[in-house]
Amino acid sequence: MTLHLRALTPDDAAAAAALHALAFADGWSEAAFAAQFAAAGAVTLGLFDADGLAAFALFQNTAGEADLLTVATHPDRRNQGLARQLITRVMADLVLQAVTRVTLDVAEDNAPALHLYASLGFTEDGRRPRYYTAGRPAPVAAILMSKTLAA
Ligand SMILES: CC(C)(COP(=O)(O)OP(=O)(O)OC[C@H]1O[C@@H](n2cnc3c(N)ncnc32)[C@H](O)[C@@H]1OP(=O)(O)O)[C@@H](O)C(=O)NCCC(=O)NCCS
Repeated sequence: MTLHLRALTPDDAAAAAALHALAFADGWSEAAFAAQFAAAGAVTLGLFDADGLAAFALFQNTAGEADLLTVATHPDRRNQGLARQLITRVMADLVLQAVTRVTLDVAEDNAPALHLYASLGFTEDGRRPRYYTAGRPAPVAAILMSKTLAA
């Protein structure tokens, strides 16, 4: 299936919120995405197929350091390399914007995301105990990760 890649705008907020709700127990609202897509320093990339938004990533670039705020792939399109493609492409663009470091946090029970980030070269910097609660019987830690970008 052909995939189309482009940055997201506030007009994509409803699609992003719908996809996010499939990916997280506490998905962000349409209004939250509209605001974040319009924010200074926001860097987004979405992958679209014939059914609409299949995956997207959202970063915040602040003074040369970017935080991966969220990334989600539609459940029907997982394990096809979409998130890897999105994150790799955004990081290549961030290097051109003089970003030297990318940070993120991920729940310690999120095996696919941990595998993906580690394989992209992110390493663990620390943990926030009992950080994630939504949709879980007991809180789990956030693992703080970062990757230095080569110029
Ligand atoms: C995390 C997420 C974005 C990954 O999206 P994706 O498009 O499926 O990712 P990719 O296909 O690029 O890569 C997934 C990798 O995880 C691996 N994987 C899948 N399930 C796994 C598991 N249970 N344990 C370990 N690795 C796993 C895949 O094999 C693949 O690695 P590979 O490329 O080395 O084979 C997707 O699972 C998702 O939307 N999850 C819900 C939202 C979420 O957790 N977002 C991240 C929050 S930090």
